[in-house]
Order: sequence, then structure tokens, then C-alpha cells
Amino acid sequence: MTHKSVNSIQATPSELLDQYTELASLAGGLAHEIRNPLSSISMNSSLLKEELCQSDDPRDRRLCQRLDIVQQECKHLEEILNAFLQFVRAGELHPQPTDLTEVLEKFIEFFRPRAQQHQIDISPHLSPNLPQVNLDRSLFRQVLLNLAINAQQAMPEGGLLEIQTYNRKNQVLLEFIDTGLGMSEEVQAKMFQAFFSSKTDGSGLGLPMVRKVVLAHGGTIQCESEPGKGTRFIITLPVLPA
Ligand SMILES: Nc1ncnc2c1ncn2[C@@H]1O[C@H](COP(=O)(O)OP(=O)(O)OP(=O)(O)O)[C@@H](O)[C@H]1O
Ligand SMILES: [Mg+2]
Repeated sequence: MTHKSVNSIQATPSELLDQYTELASLAGGLAHEIRNPLSSISMNSSLLKEELCQSDDPRDRRLCQRLDIVQQECKHLEEILNAFLQFVRAGELHPQPTDLTEVLEKFIEFFRPRAQQHQIDISPHLSPNLPQVNLDRSLFRQVLLNLAINAQQAMPEGGLLEIQTYNRKNQVLLEFIDTGLGMSEEVQAKMFQAFFSSKTDGSGLGLPMVRKVVLAHGGTIQCESEPGKGTRFIITLPVLPA
């Protein structure tokens, strides 16, 4: 058998980055383009539903029920698109010197009522005099929200969510610790993969977004989890040089 020489042309890292950026921007554009017709479908089905549900004809009422399904599916698609667009934008930072304690206190105040509704206690241990970090506050709020919602969903019977900060050398550490269901090793291996979800209505873009934002800040994210015991996410952020 003769071997033909193959003229393989490999992309350079910078070409790969260009391709990635182009694909990400195309995907983001596509998600945007889908959003408008989708909201038009949703709005029109809602108008149709109003008319059909009021009718005395049993056939109309059956159609009305079908439209319920159309609307649920539209809502699900809208959620996926929003999570996707958030994920695409997660690398574009607008950071500013920030007191993380202040951001966390505001977030906890916002999230506490929702946690209470689910029988979850939030216990903050926020270190005083934490050095400032360079933070995109709006993206980081999404990070906190994703971690808190994941924790809440992992504690269907209620539980405890500890939020801790401390300072180590030139890093600020932030931990989210829940007493929830925990994760198997299989789930832990996949949790940062885009679109991986163990939930029926999860987009699977929450943790990938969290990771992307943390890495874009020059930080790191780690997870320790034990099935039946709970989960701890540890985030580090570089301290802002004085
Ligand atoms: N605190 C946690 N405790 C237990 N499992 C978790 C926790 N956080 C994440 N997971 C697991 O990791 C998976 C991926 O999480 P991720 O936030 O990316 O997606 P999701 O929560 O399923 O969907 P979405 O965030 O879009 O609603 C979850 O489906 C769940 O199995
Ligand atoms: Mg999630």
C-alpha cells in the first residue's frame, strides 16, 4: 500500500482565536435574530389563546390548551436564549475597583427573601477590611445569582447556604457552601460543560458562565462536593494592586 503525503495546514493559535471569536459573534447574532420572531410568536399565541379560551365551543377550548404548550415552549426557548447571550457576553468585562463585601451584602439582602421561601438560611461570614478587587459588578452579580440559585435548587427540603470571604496573600477568596444534594463524580466532571444539566428545565449554561466570568477576572474556581452532604465552590480573585 502506498502512503500519500497529506498536506495538512494547521491553524495557528491566533487563527483559532479569530475563528472562535467569529463563531461566538455569529452565534450571539443568531440568538438575537431568533429572539424577536420568538417574542412575536409568544405574543400572538397569547392573543389567540385569550379568544379561544373564552369560546363556548369545546373544540376552541382544546385548541386553547394546545396554545398553553406553545407558550410554555416559547418561554423555555426565551430562557435558553437569554442564558446563551449572557454566556457569550461573559468574557467582555467592564471592571472597576470594588469592595467585594459591599457587593455581597447587597446580593444577600436581595436573595434572602427568596431563600427564606425555600427554607434556606443564608449565613454570611464576610471578612472585615477585605482588599479591593477589580470587578465587573454586573457580571459578577450574575455569578453570585447562578451559584445561589444552584445551591437553592440543590436544597429542595431547605438547608444552609454559607457565604464566606477571606484574604490570602494577593488573593481574595469567596466560598459558597451549601448543605444540599451534592454531586456525583460524573456530574462534577461535566458541570462546567456548556449545556450540561441534570435538571429538566436547566439550560446548563449557569456554571460555564460563572467559570468564564471568573477566569476573565484573572481568578480561579474550584468545587468540592459530596453526594448527600453538600457542595462548596471556591472562587479566587486577584487583589487590586495598591
Ligand atoms: N450547588 C450545587 N449542588 C449540586 N449540584 C449542582 C450545584 N451546582 C451545580 N450543580 C450541578 O451542575 C449542573 C450544571 O449547573 P448549571 O448551573 O451550569 O446548569 P443548571 O443549573 O442545570 O441550569 P441553569 O443554570 O441554566 O438553570 C446542574 O444541573 C447540577 O447537576
Ligand atoms: Mg444553574
